[in-house]
Amino acid sequence: MTDSKRKSLRSESWFNDLADPEMTALYLERYLNYGLTLEELRSGKPIIGIAQTGSDLSPCNRHHVELAKRTRDGIIAAGGIPLEIPVHPIQETGKRPTAMLDRNLAYLSLVESLYGYPIDGVVLTIGCDKTTPALLMAAATVNIPAIAFSVGPMLNGWYKGERAGSGAIVWKAREKYATGEIDGEGFLNMAAASAPSVGYCNTMGTASTMNSLAEALGMQLPGSASIPAPYRERGQMAYHTGTRIVEMVHEDLRPSDVMTRAAFENAIVVNSAIGGSTNAPIHLVAIARHLGIDITNADWESIGYDVPLLANVQPAGAYLSEDFHLAGGLPAIVAELLRGGLIPHDDAITVTGQKFGSLYADAPCENDDVIRTIDRALTAKAGFLNMTGNLFDTAIMKTSVITQDFRDRYLSHADDPMAFEGPAFVFDGPEDFHKRIDDPELGITADSILVMRGAGPKGYPGGAEVVNMRPPSYLIKQGIRGLPCLGDGRQSGTSGSASILNASPEAADGGNLAILQDRDRLRIDLNTRKVELLLDDQEIAARRASLDAAGGYQVPESQSPWQAIFRDRVRQFSDGMVLDGADKFQDIANK
Ligand code: FES
Ligand code: MG
Repeated sequence: MTDSKRKSLRSESWFNDLADPEMTALYLERYLNYGLTLEELRSGKPIIGIAQTGSDLSPCNRHHVELAKRTRDGIIAAGGIPLEIPVHPIQETGKRPTAMLDRNLAYLSLVESLYGYPIDGVVLTIGCDKTTPALLMAAATVNIPAIAFSVGPMLNGWYKGERAGSGAIVWKAREKYATGEIDGEGFLNMAAASAPSVGYCNTMGTASTMNSLAEALGMQLPGSASIPAPYRERGQMAYHTGTRIVEMVHEDLRPSDVMTRAAFENAIVVNSAIGGSTNAPIHLVAIARHLGIDITNADWESIGYDVPLLANVQPAGAYLSEDFHLAGGLPAIVAELLRGGLIPHDDAITVTGQKFGSLYADAPCENDDVIRTIDRALTAKAGFLNMTGNLFDTAIMKTSVITQDFRDRYLSHADDPMAFEGPAFVFDGPEDFHKRIDDPELGITADSILVMRGAGPKGYPGGAEVVNMRPPSYLIKQGIRGLPCLGDGRQSGTSGSASILNASPEAADGGNLAILQDRDRLRIDLNTRKVELLLDDQEIAARRASLDAAGGYQVPESQSPWQAIFRDRVRQFSDGMVLDGADKFQDIANK
């Protein structure tokens, strides 16, 4: 490209503004102080941010610190200048009260970094659960050329000769611990067996899901999502990502060109086929909102429910992320969906500048037990149901994890094979659950329904991953390994529970879960997608009035300034848990 034809870069208004030599001098001098030269900064080379989510605090993404060296090499080779940008850490397993609280904080801070500094394009280093949506939300808002780059999952974990999957093994250990089969150290050994290398969770939890969906949205290079973190291909992909972002800046290919409504619809279909996390609707809705695209839980059902489960990966299947990669990874899934005519928009443009369908059509499958063909799918309809009723307006149910045991016990009655009833037992947050669940006096029986409330975005700031509750230990000892669960919190993407989740509005935001009492009868009907509290409207109104008179549903005090600000501004899970008013800021770098 000749200089006269070159589109001017946003960074030039910092470093090369001839009309304002004073400010230019001030901006420039400090970037020189660690060795950058005037020639580089005024050469018209794009300044490429590497939004760095890895740190010692964030083990899942820590390998990005190493990989960024290869990304830098790629950026320099393609004629760009890399600048690494620290992102507020979000470590799923380390942050109290919940990492989800920090998704919006990391998003907000990255928006300021990208908007307020001389950045022409950005590599988004994604991985651990909330890092992916946080970075995509920021890129969507600022709308400078952006490409996502996954850190990759951990290698397969092994425990006593069997695959040990992140999270999944914790749910198993929890049962063994409850029955006294293992002690605290045994619990730790089981959990640690699932973390054999650098990288993020090796099941199809929220991390693998969101990294896969970042590719399905067109925001990663093809094949990038599934490469395990320690594999050499991961470093090579870092290099290619670095070269591509420089080209994207020259092409002015922006997030709003890639993350269109069509791309979101493709991603919803892919989510069903991989058995993706119930956190995905919250995050995709949030990313979409920051681009002015309205996606709802009803869209998740209408676009995604009929799609078959093809990935035989825990928690919905048997294998782990390394197996998934070796079998062909996301490209093999997309290729099969394309063959079945199930990708709604094969013409969506990706960060490559090419059409989604053309990139994946010939991707091979190397193991047809791990990645199934449509005619050998693990489940015919693997998407989410959008549940409604008199306790909440909308909630999500992941059908791909409904076990045979669950089907036999709840969904096989001759009179109505898709509906069941039972008495509710209600817990106010995870602490209350842990305190009371094993108390035989409570009277939980095999036909009970466990309800968690006070665990939504406002109740437990960010929303706790606690709706998948285990039965009391006395029932586990009798062989009852799961009870139906329902609540206004979330559950880990690694959980195999067919819970009804993310209920909006939550108890702490005027939802009727707040008026539920122990032993109230609930009816859950998967045909009509209804959850009903079996009380007449008058009784419901009376309970509501007396709760409101008593000051409404009470939640614990905020423990930090951000928790208080967050609770004040946050919207419900069905609205993506976005901050009220934040999503009106769109395309801000181009205004
Ligand atoms: Fe970080 Fe699962 S805890 S990816
Ligand atoms: Mg998780």
